[in-house]
Amino acid sequence: MKIILLGPPGAGKGTLAHLIKERFGICPIATGDILRDAMKSGSPIGQKVKKYVESGELVPDEVVTAIIENKLMTDKNIEKGYMLDGFPRTKPQAEELDRILERINRPLDCAVYMEVSLPVIIQRLTGRRVCRECGDLFHVTNKPPHQSGRCDECGGEIYQRPDDNEETIRTRMDVYLKNTAPVIGYYRSLGKLQEVDGSRDSRELLNDLVDGLNERKRTNQDKIR
Ligand code: AP5
Repeated sequence: MKIILLGPPGAGKGTLAHLIKERFGICPIATGDILRDAMKSGSPIGQKVKKYVESGELVPDEVVTAIIENKLMTDKNIEKGYMLDGFPRTKPQAEELDRILERINRPLDCAVYMEVSLPVIIQRLTGRRVCRECGDLFHVTNKPPHQSGRCDECGGEIYQRPDDNEETIRTRMDVYLKNTAPVIGYYRSLGKLQEVDGSRDSRELLNDLVDGLNERKRTNQDKIR
């Protein structure tokens, strides 16, 4: 499986990525997580990107593209496939990704576009909680942890992301509509867009995605014959 997860903030990209990892053993490459880890470590990249991430603006293309290139070039499990969560987010990032994938000879199967309405996004993001240790995702009403403030998986402390407040969520949405919506058109024009309903239950959504990927594979094989 060689896919990209595309969609607005709160579409459920991270949640779906977690389920794909569970079922197929492919680890997500999530730019948001990588940037937050860099910020936590206080590295030069972390210091450079902090102001963008905390305000909901995009980190400059060259910074995230270099991160992705490094990950894809050094990933020992690339034979199994890859799953990019949160990248590309601009057309130049998408074009640069094409060049990297060509270089490593691992062409994309498809870009999965998860569509969700704004009220659902706000409800999901304002209620989201994340484990500080293992990154597991929770939600105050949709998926509360068994023990308040503690992760079900590892017992780590659960926190709210600083960019998950209503004002920053609206900035992230504006940024998404301006910069990332054109990326959807880009993959549609290449015939590589797989659309799924992000408001569905995430396990049902995974089944829809797997059906869609199998259908795509069959169609491609028919074209070759
Ligand atoms: P990033 O971390 O990628 O944030 P995002 O795209 O805004 O996406 P989220 O992580 O907020 O949402 P998600 O779709 O993963 O939803 P989740 O599964 O968690 O990026 C953060 C920042 O980093 C950016 O603003 C930018 O500054 C920078 N950045 C990152 N990549 C960049 C790039 N390529 N270029 C430039 N800058 C970049 O779900 C949300 C909640 O909903 C959870 O609580 C979950 O439990 C719940 N939920 C999920 N799915 C369902 C469902 N089906 N039903 C019910 N509840 C659900």
